Order: sequence, then C-alpha cells, then structure tokens
Amino acid sequence: MKCRVMKFKIKRFDGERSWFDTFEVKPKPHMSVLEALFQIQDEQDGSLAFRYSCRGAVCGSCAMLINKKQRLACRTQASEIIGERVLTLSPYGPVAKPELKTGEEILIEPLPNLPVIKDLVVDLKPFFKHYEDVHPWFEGGGDMLMSQLDVRKVDKYAACILCGLCYGACPVAARDKDYLGPAALANAWRFYADTRYNDTVGMLKRNGKRKGLRNRDVGMAAPARHGYPACVLPVHTYRVGAWN
Ligand code: SF4
Ligand code: FES
Repeated sequence: MKCRVMKFKIKRFDGERSWFDTFEVKPKPHMSVLEALFQIQDEQDGSLAFRYSCRGAVCGSCAMLINKKQRLACRTQASEIIGERVLTLSPYGPVAKPELKTGEEILIEPLPNLPVIKDLVVDLKPFFKHYEDVHPWFEGGGDMLMSQLDVRKVDKYAACILCGLCYGACPVAARDKDYLGPAALANAWRFYADTRYNDTVGMLKRNGKRKGLRNRDVGMAAPARHGYPACVLPVHTYRVGAWN
C-alpha cells in the first residue's frame, strides 16, 4: 500500500504509567518496522526505548507485538502491514477475549507475558530462567560424532534463536509463570533427542515435575495438547509441525 506518511501508535511505559504515542514517519522503500523506530528515535523522540542488535532476524532482540502479532521488527516490512485486520485474544490469560485490530496505523506494543522495563523493552529473565532450567547443554564428554540423519532429527530445534516470540504468544505461559514455555521445551527436546547427549535420565529427573516436561512427553506435552505452534518465528515455520 502506498502512502505519504505512515502512522505508528506505540505503547509507552516509564516505570510507573503507560500510554500510547502516535508518530508520523515518512516511508522509505523496503522500510522495516525497526527502521521506522530508529527514525522516530532519531528525529522525534530520543527517549523511545526498544531492543535490537543484528537487524537481520538472527539475534532475536527486536521481538515485539506488531499489529497484535508477535513479530521481529527487523523482519517486518512496514508497508506490508498497514491497514491489516488482525483478530487476536487480548488481554492474554484466563479472561482473554477476542479483539479485532483495524485502522491504518501500525500498532506496536511490547512482547506479552513478560514484565515491561521501558516502552518496548521487556525483562527476559523469566524466559531465560525456564531455558536454563532444562539444562540445554551437553553433560560430560563422550563421542561427539553424529550421522547426517541424526543431525536432521534435531536440526530444526537447534535453529531456535531465543527471540521469545513463542513465549509472548503462549496462552499457557500467560496464566502460569511456572510453565516452561515453547522455547525451553524445544531446546529440552533438542538435547534429549541428540544422540551425543548422555544425560537423558538426568533431564527427566530434573524436569520431570515441571509443567510441560513430563516423562517421555518431553517436548510434546503442552504445545501439542493445546494446539499452538512451538515456534512462531516466520523463518522457522517448519518447526510448527515438528511437535506432532
Ligand atoms: S522457538 Fe521460535 S519463537 Fe520461540 S524463541 Fe525459539 S526461535 Fe523464537
Ligand atoms: S535485530 Fe536481531 S532479530 Fe531483529
């Protein structure tokens, strides 16, 4: 869609109160939402806070809610999402109700299910705590060789960039902070199913009582049962079916 200015409605938070600010941005060809945020920060409001690093959909830092969808800002073309209608559940959690996002402005909010530090910057500690809890690393030494076939079995899980988008989209994580979440589960399975991993019993023992990680259900419990994808990152969409 061609337009002379693009409107960005951005949720702000200063540690005490939250509100929305609307900014007008002159579009450039192939402008990503992240570039628009830079332009706003450079030219209109230097206090706007957001996280980024690679600008190439690799680091996962720029995960946020864009037009009510969990997206990476650097991978989202602004011109492609102007005026889109998005049906979503909001707010997240047990009292979620359907909400339809309409209008021409691009709505930007922080990633749900995590505490907001400032504007679009969320505290990822709960997300990484769950990740660490499953011990996603090799225990001890041993043979590190794998067949190509075995590599393929875990490859899709190893592609996780820990962006947190799936955690921000997860209705179970919204109401249960103890729940490990899709990324931690994917990474638990990534090691459990790896032929070089020699502590499968230990992993089950450590995490057996944790929600979403039970006995031989590792990596399949909640995501499969609740019917939502493990990974919501578009570049990894093939992961969605990997849970089944
Ligand atoms: S599973 Fe996908 S959406 Fe979740 S953190 Fe990993 S890459 Fe991001
Ligand atoms: S800035 Fe790294 S994924 Fe967007």
